[in-house]
Amino acid sequence: MSFKEKVIYQIYPKSFLDTNQDGVGDLPGIEQKLPYLKRLGVDMVWLSPIYPSPQKDNGYDVADYTSINPMFGTMNDFDSLMATAKKYGIEIMLDMVFNHVSTEHEWFQKALAGDKKYQDYFILREEPTDWVSKFGGNAWASFGDTGKYYLHLYDITQADLNWRNPEVREELFNVLRFWMDKGIKGFRFDVINVIGKDEVLKNCPENDGKPAYTDKPIAHEFIRMMNQATYGKDAEIVTVGEMSFTTIEDCILYTNPKREELNMTFNFHHLKVDYKDGKKWTLMPFDFEKLKELFHTWGTQMSEGSGWNALFWNNHDQPRALNRFIDVDNYRVVGSKMLASSIHLNRGTPYIYMGEEIGMLDPDFDKMEDYVDVESLNAYQELLDAGKSEQEAFKVVKAKSRDNSRTPMQWDSGEYSGFSQSAPWLGLGKSADEINVAKELQEGSIFTYYQQLIKLRKEYPVIAEGSYEAFLPEHPQIYGFVRRLEGHSLLVLNNFFSQETTIKLPKECLSGEVLIDNYETKSFEQELRLKPYQTIAIYY
Ligand code: GLC
Ligand code: CA
Repeated sequence: MSFKEKVIYQIYPKSFLDTNQDGVGDLPGIEQKLPYLKRLGVDMVWLSPIYPSPQKDNGYDVADYTSINPMFGTMNDFDSLMATAKKYGIEIMLDMVFNHVSTEHEWFQKALAGDKKYQDYFILREEPTDWVSKFGGNAWASFGDTGKYYLHLYDITQADLNWRNPEVREELFNVLRFWMDKGIKGFRFDVINVIGKDEVLKNCPENDGKPAYTDKPIAHEFIRMMNQATYGKDAEIVTVGEMSFTTIEDCILYTNPKREELNMTFNFHHLKVDYKDGKKWTLMPFDFEKLKELFHTWGTQMSEGSGWNALFWNNHDQPRALNRFIDVDNYRVVGSKMLASSIHLNRGTPYIYMGEEIGMLDPDFDKMEDYVDVESLNAYQELLDAGKSEQEAFKVVKAKSRDNSRTPMQWDSGEYSGFSQSAPWLGLGKSADEINVAKELQEGSIFTYYQQLIKLRKEYPVIAEGSYEAFLPEHPQIYGFVRRLEGHSLLVLNNFFSQETTIKLPKECLSGEVLIDNYETKSFEQELRLKPYQTIAIYY
C-alpha cells in the first residue's frame, strides 16, 4: 500500500497505557492496545521517542539511539510489540531525533572529557551568536571549562550535532539501519530542516536567528545522503520530516519523489493562526481567513509541485485542536467530525493523535504546579518577567501548553481512567469520566466516524490520489475543496462556525451521493444550508 493510502496514529508512549503501575505508559501497554488500533483501522503507529533519556524534553533528549528506556520496558518488550503488530497488520514508525543528542549521550560526555574526535560531533565555537533557543534564552552554553560554547537550538541539555562531519552522519545512518533490521517501516524525523548549519555562523537578529539555520540547501543534501544510504533502499518505508518555520518551496523539494529526500513533511503554519503577531505565548481567537488561505495555498502548490503533506490537527506539541477551533461546550462531537473530515479527505497522509478519535479535550488544569513541560515552565517565567500577573501568565500557559495533549489516554471512567492503577506522571483531564474509550465505543460516534474516514481513503482513489482545488475560497465560513481523479470528483465542505450558513452547489454535483457527513444528510439541493460545524462530502 502506498503511503498516500495510509493513515498513521501517533502515540505518546508515556501517556498511552501503564501496565506495571508505575504511573508511566509502557511498551507492553501499547502492545495490549493493538486490537483497539486495529479496530480503528490505522495502518501505522508512530511512537514518540522510546530511548534512554534523562527526559528533560520527554525523550526528545536521546542518550542512546539503539536501546529502550527501562521506563518503557526492554528490547524484548519491543520485539514482542513488533511481532504482535505484524500479526495485526500494523506497521511501526519510530521517532528519530537527529538534530541533537542529550548532553548525557556518551558522544557529548566524551567530547566534554577532551576527546577531539567527539568534540567534532558538536557545534562548538569560540564566540556565541545572537540566536535564541526555541525554549527561551540564548542558544549557546559554555562547553565545560574549555572557554568554548556549544549550540543548543532547544533545551540546554540538547546539544546540536555537527552534520558536516561524515562520521556523525555515518553514526546516524547506522541507527536507521539498526531499526530497519528490526522491521521498522516508518521514520519520523524530528526538526530535520535545521540540521544544516553554515561553516561560519553569523548573528541574525531576524526571527530569533531562524533564517540562519533553517531550510539551508545543505539540509536537503544531508537528507538525500541519508535516503540513499538507508531507507531509500526499501520502497515500503514511510518517511516524514518535521519542518519548523518552513516554506512551501522547501517542502516541495523535501518531498518531490525525484529528489529522493522524504515522503512527506509536517509544517505548522495552520497551527499558528491563533498566534498574535506570530507569537505562541499570546491569546487570540483563530483567524479563519488565514487558516483557509493556508490550506488552499499548501493544497494547491504541493499538488502542482508533486509534493506531499502530512495532514494533522494534533500532536504532542500542540494543545488539542478541539479547544482551539470548536465551541466545545456545545458542539464537541460534530466539531470533532468536521475537523476530521477536513484533513482525512484532503490531499496528503492523515495523522491521528491518540485521544483525537474519542474527542479528548485539554485537561483544564487549575494551577501552575500541574504543568511539567520545560517549554511551558520557561514561558511562564518569561511572561512574569515581562510584567504579566500570575493570573494572566497562567491563562496563557493553560491555553498553549504542550502538556494539554500529553495527559494520559482516557480509557474508562475508573480512578485513573484505566490508564494506570497509580497516580500518573501527568494529571488526567477533568473530563475523563465523560470522555473515554469505553463510553465512546458504547454510545459515541466520533470513533465510528474516524473508522469510516479511514475506510473511505482505501475505497475511493480520489481521496488518496486526487488533485486539489479550492472551492469558493471567498466564503466567510466554509473551507471547501474539490479533489479530482480520472473523471471522478469529491467536493468537501466544512463549516468552521457555530452559525448556519448557505452555499450554492455546482450543478455537476447535484446527481452525486453523500459519502460522509456529520448530520446524516440524505438528500440535498443546489441551495445547501450547512448546520453548525457541518461537514459534508459529495462524490460525483
Ligand atoms: C520537536 C518535537 C518536540 C521537541 C523538539 C526538540 O519539535 O516534536 O517535542 O521538543 O522537537 O526535539
Ligand atoms: Ca509503566
